[in-house]
Amino acid sequence: MNYHGTSMRIMSLPRLSCRILASVILLANYSIAARAGAEHHTPEIPKTWDDVALKDWPTPIAGLNVRPTHISAKEYYALPVENLRTYPVYFPGREPEGYWDMLQHIGPQPLIDPEKLKSREDWIEAGRKVFDEADQLHERVLDPQLIAAARSAETFNQAHTLPLPDGTLYFLRWVPTRQGVALSLGNCSICHLQYLQDGTRIPGAPSFPGVARGPQLRNPLLGPIHDASRVLSGDPPFIMGPEPLGMWLNQAYGVPWLKDDILARLKTSTMATPVPPCSPAPPPGKRSK
Ligand code: HEC
Repeated sequence: MNYHGTSMRIMSLPRLSCRILASVILLANYSIAARAGAEHHTPEIPKTWDDVALKDWPTPIAGLNVRPTHISAKEYYALPVENLRTYPVYFPGREPEGYWDMLQHIGPQPLIDPEKLKSREDWIEAGRKVFDEADQLHERVLDPQLIAAARSAETFNQAHTLPLPDGTLYFLRWVPTRQGVALSLGNCSICHLQYLQDGTRIPGAPSFPGVARGPQLRNPLLGPIHDASRVLSGDPPFIMGPEPLGMWLNQAYGVPWLKDDILARLKTSTMATPVPPCSPAPPPGKRSK
């Protein structure tokens, strides 16, 4: 695939996967609800990846008049399924007794066991677990320094981070894997779970509106985890190459088919020379894409 094709895929996939995963959860719940009352429920889970439905789904790219491409349904369904339990990361000093030891010994556990889901309640509970526990698979880090930083009060005190009411930290998850206990970032729950200032938890509401902005949202390990995983901010499901940061930004946000693309200057940007914003800061609760 040529460079342009790669770039388009980078921009179109994260939104698509978000919507499709959500549809699975919502539609599964809908069809389960329709059968409420029966003892055994077999939800009708719609086909997630459909070549025909995807054919004209993305809007053609301005200037090129061609649609971005996706992997085929065959490739999609050949992907291995990841199904691992994750656990909260506590603010240092707030961990329950024996918690760290438990994580070291428990080993990889399945997040859900579809074979055991029988009743409507079982399926709803499984959906809740996936929402709360699913992590960013491509951002699991085993780096001992990052793991030590996640267990050091200094890390969070310096950033003036506060824990959530239950003593846990926003964004971070522990994942016991075959290679050891990894530090990772939450998935749906880091963007779609709102805590009001009084600690009320609202799953499904956006995480970052003005009313919820508080010291619990400051997590100094987000940047280091993105960097260690070579993933751009916003957790798009792409591991970037060995080139410098400016090239990553250009691959993700540049518009190389446009004559005199003003974003071409991204190529030379570094951490030390932050990119000037191309548009005003997004309003609270929104994020730029
Ligand atoms: C990194 C942040 C982030 C993560 C992680 C994330 N989302 Fe989203 N999600 C968004 C944003 C931002 C939008 C709305 C923007 C858009 O439509 O482009 C959105 C849109 C949605 C929508 C509305 C889609 C529509 O068609 O209007 C649903 C439903 C949804 N997400 C569910 C999920 C589920 C389920 C997960 C976990 C599997 C998830 N999201 C993970 C940020 C995220």
